[in-house]
Amino acid sequence: MTTIHDGTSHPDAWWRKAVIYQIYPRSWADANGDGIGDLPGITSRLPYLRDLGVDAVWLSPFYTSPQADAGYDVADYRDIDPLFGTLDDAKDMVARAHELDLRVIVDLVPNHSSDEHAWFQAALAAGPGSPERARYIFRDGKGPEGNEPPNNWKAVFGGSAWTRITEADGSPGQWYLHLFDPKQPDFDWNHSEVRAEFESVLHFWLDLGVDGFRVDVAHGLVKEAGLPDWEAEQELLGGTGPDDGQGPMWDQDGVHEIYEAWRRILNSYNTSGDSSQDRVMCAEAWVKPASRAARYVRQTEFHQAFNFDFLDTTWRAADLRDVIETSYAANDSVGAPTTWVLSNHDVVRHATRLGLPIDAPRPNGIGAEDAQPDAELGLRRARAATALMLALPGGSYLWQGEELGLPEHTTMPDDVRQDPTWERSGHTVKGRDGCRVPMPWEADKPSLGFGPSEQTWLPQPESYAALAVDQQTGDETSTLELYRTMLRLRRERALAGGSLAMATNTGEVVQVDITSAAGTTTVITNLGEGPVEVPEGATVLLASGPLDAKGDVPTDTTVWLG
Ligand code: NOJ
Repeated sequence: MTTIHDGTSHPDAWWRKAVIYQIYPRSWADANGDGIGDLPGITSRLPYLRDLGVDAVWLSPFYTSPQADAGYDVADYRDIDPLFGTLDDAKDMVARAHELDLRVIVDLVPNHSSDEHAWFQAALAAGPGSPERARYIFRDGKGPEGNEPPNNWKAVFGGSAWTRITEADGSPGQWYLHLFDPKQPDFDWNHSEVRAEFESVLHFWLDLGVDGFRVDVAHGLVKEAGLPDWEAEQELLGGTGPDDGQGPMWDQDGVHEIYEAWRRILNSYNTSGDSSQDRVMCAEAWVKPASRAARYVRQTEFHQAFNFDFLDTTWRAADLRDVIETSYAANDSVGAPTTWVLSNHDVVRHATRLGLPIDAPRPNGIGAEDAQPDAELGLRRARAATALMLALPGGSYLWQGEELGLPEHTTMPDDVRQDPTWERSGHTVKGRDGCRVPMPWEADKPSLGFGPSEQTWLPQPESYAALAVDQQTGDETSTLELYRTMLRLRRERALAGGSLAMATNTGEVVQVDITSAAGTTTVITNLGEGPVEVPEGATVLLASGPLDAKGDVPTDTTVWLG
């Protein structure tokens, strides 16, 4: 056993240990029956999360938006889209969450706005060289007529990262940069008004009572001066290729001073020094290597950053051991917690991903005509992977529905797809709709209890009925009850704040000891073909799947031992 993380050296703060549940507002609970989830729906279902045992929720964007990218195209950062409710509904949601002892983290989207944001509309109207244009990245095109984009950057959703506008007088005009969809123009973060505006937006939501922010594309705000050409394709999101996250549009040193300023604002909301009052921010930064990503969680910047290397790890013991070790080394070196994650609204659900061939690259969506995953294998591995993750010291994020073992919708008809990736890629990349399908709550209700009507903005696959919350509740073998037990034991054994030692040379097995004030918990994940014996005298506290007839740990299973 080698100690690779000393939890005792970390101060005590809720966000270092929290399990945070991601809610996708359009897909969690629909109160008004229009087929799209909303804030009153969320508020009504919050007791479910208290009973599940999570510490906080993160809500994907609910702001005023034309919904070109499901709300990641914000037209007004200080208001709620009527699809989701009103500002009063947001206040009610935050109040109810706090009553239930759940913290609330909202999404902040600072890299780009919607093209329907007042500032972008003003920029279009004002013309080249105007102060209004300077808040975004407008440039003249190349070539004698300005017909070619200013550089060769590709958009993450496909196609060029530049769109040419028509000037107010009808003439072909300048181009603007959008790293994502044309309806998501990038701000120019060199502009002081952009910085001041977002600082004011932070205050707005902190004053309303939220506990923090998940920051979208945190590694993208500052672009390399001169916007030099870059040949690589942009893979969504982060991708797994060597060039991903490396271009002149990502991870520029200049981003860090923005986050230092934000951290000062967050800190100013907790002058008591009582860490239970900490307001926090979590970086969505697809940055490699881990040492580079750790720069975002220096004590003067973000509190957390998603560990996407863990999400992208193949189902191999050596790879898991390696990512666990590398992640702690990088984050511990800056005094930050490691923040684990396996699924979110941008990636194929891990219950499906882990049912694909191990070496296949992570797909961006799966369609009916693609090779289908092995659903049973995927779920078994997903349960084992989550049982490993939730034992690891640090924080973890859960994606809604993973506690039900929901698979990706892999046979969704193409004509209902809404992810801009599908259109922008010329119908070659399916995109992210398959992981965003509305939640099943009650098997016998319309829309499986998602809302009072039959409507759902994306169709629910047949397999979801048997996985509904009411079908799993009380069934000790269900994924939902496994999650409840894991979250309870994680707390009781104080795993999140523990120290971690890892066994070396264990072949296809990952074995760690987590030691906290509550004692030592041994966690074994068996990725090998044969069974692994439970060490003599150990008590099995939890198993991600049934043990075999001899009481040994079968393949693709994790146990927690006391
Ligand atoms: C990352 C978000 O998670 C994703 O859903 C979105 O499409 C892009 N950022 C653009 O905002």
